[in-house]
Amino acid sequence: MKLWGGRFTKETNQLVHNFNASLSFDQKFYKQDIGGSIAHVTMLAKQGILTDEEKDTIIAGLQGIEADITSGILEFDEAQEDIHSFVEAVLIDRIGNVGKKLHTGRSRNDQVALDMRLYTRDEIDELDKLLFDLLQTIYNIMKENLTTYMPGFTHLQKAQPVTLAHHFGAYFEMFLRDRDRLKDIRKRMNYCPLGAGALAGTTYPLDRAYTASLLGFDGPTRNSMDSVSDRDYLLETLSALSICMMHLSRFCEEIIIWNSNEYRFVDIDDGYSTGSSIMPQKKNPDIAELVRGKTGRVYGALTSLLTTMKGIPLAYNKDMQEDKEMTFDAIDTVKGCLALFTGMLATMKFNHDVMEASAKNGFTNATDAADYLVNHGVPFRDAHGIIGQLVLLCIEKDISLDELPLDEYRKISPVFEEDIYEAIRMQTCVERRNTIGAPGLQAMQEVLASYKKFLEN
Ligand code: ARG
Repeated sequence: MKLWGGRFTKETNQLVHNFNASLSFDQKFYKQDIGGSIAHVTMLAKQGILTDEEKDTIIAGLQGIEADITSGILEFDEAQEDIHSFVEAVLIDRIGNVGKKLHTGRSRNDQVALDMRLYTRDEIDELDKLLFDLLQTIYNIMKENLTTYMPGFTHLQKAQPVTLAHHFGAYFEMFLRDRDRLKDIRKRMNYCPLGAGALAGTTYPLDRAYTASLLGFDGPTRNSMDSVSDRDYLLETLSALSICMMHLSRFCEEIIIWNSNEYRFVDIDDGYSTGSSIMPQKKNPDIAELVRGKTGRVYGALTSLLTTMKGIPLAYNKDMQEDKEMTFDAIDTVKGCLALFTGMLATMKFNHDVMEASAKNGFTNATDAADYLVNHGVPFRDAHGIIGQLVLLCIEKDISLDELPLDEYRKISPVFEEDIYEAIRMQTCVERRNTIGAPGLQAMQEVLASYKKFLEN
């Protein structure tokens, strides 16, 4: 049975049907579709548009369909165009004529707008949990590594010493923002489009506020044409997911570098590594590489939907059916990446000694040496020049600033005293950085306390 056969004199061409149909992918939200229908008939009965008996029969029928799809007894019939037509057809088949009243005061346009919103809202809640797990994992690593020293980089060149906790704190901030962004979107999108009809509302006395409250929305949407053609919340979601993938990808890139033979800062657990079919010695960071690689498809979904939406006149147009496949793919991709990445991180081994040794060479304490001079009255620009000369001397001698004898220091500037060595010790360099946001222990402990609060709320 077709929902719209009445005014047609011919069967739909099979290729047209296949091209037009969305059941193969919109079946993904059968639960949301059925939940929306149950709310709709509940409201219709409250308004006296259906009797209570009709409502009960329809709801029982819908619940049976949902159970049978979930258990696999009921298979999707590809002869149906989409999930909405499929559920309605099965309902009519099962409960007879009363099933034909389900679609009273509703169009597939507001129905699909509702289903996709419900689906996205549920997925945002899943994503929120996954982001929480990731934040918790980062927090645990931070807590244990407040004094694990490592080089901080700019331009991928050693810059100044930091701690592993401080480095990971940067990612904590990123994923916290990702979580907040999704929360903002959820709040903004949480209005119910059902009752907008095809585009211009309906003449039935629908109680849209009631339907909205049944479905956990903050209220009904305010303009029926916007309701059926707004896909902003999907674009916002894809944008937030793209940013989240960009963060994951950067983190992956660092882990790939840190896991390389040259760095050896970390060892990815065997359970999260893969081998080579030819080179027996290889242990590859495939998971990190794949997460980095999959970032592209999430960006692709955003670009694709932005492009789809840009030329569409009000109100609903079939182009909008294209919002689904790539959004589903993007959401599933991000969920998979978050779960795997968190697992990889939680099992990763940090080679503290290697990190610390790396921070000790590469002149990461050169700024602190200059600051020493400044603290003894030398203008910073002069201090910069003096330390530059000393670094050059150390490079020639192949030693670090810590190893340069005091008389060499004093040849270039008599300001240096024995306490220069204490001033440029790596621990001193880190621990004296206690301004808000800096890697010093005290500053980090304060930040950690606030992270704990975020995680508890
Ligand atoms: N499968 C359609 C979609 O995803 C459902 C809405 C169909 N509405 C219509 N007027 N053809 O957009």
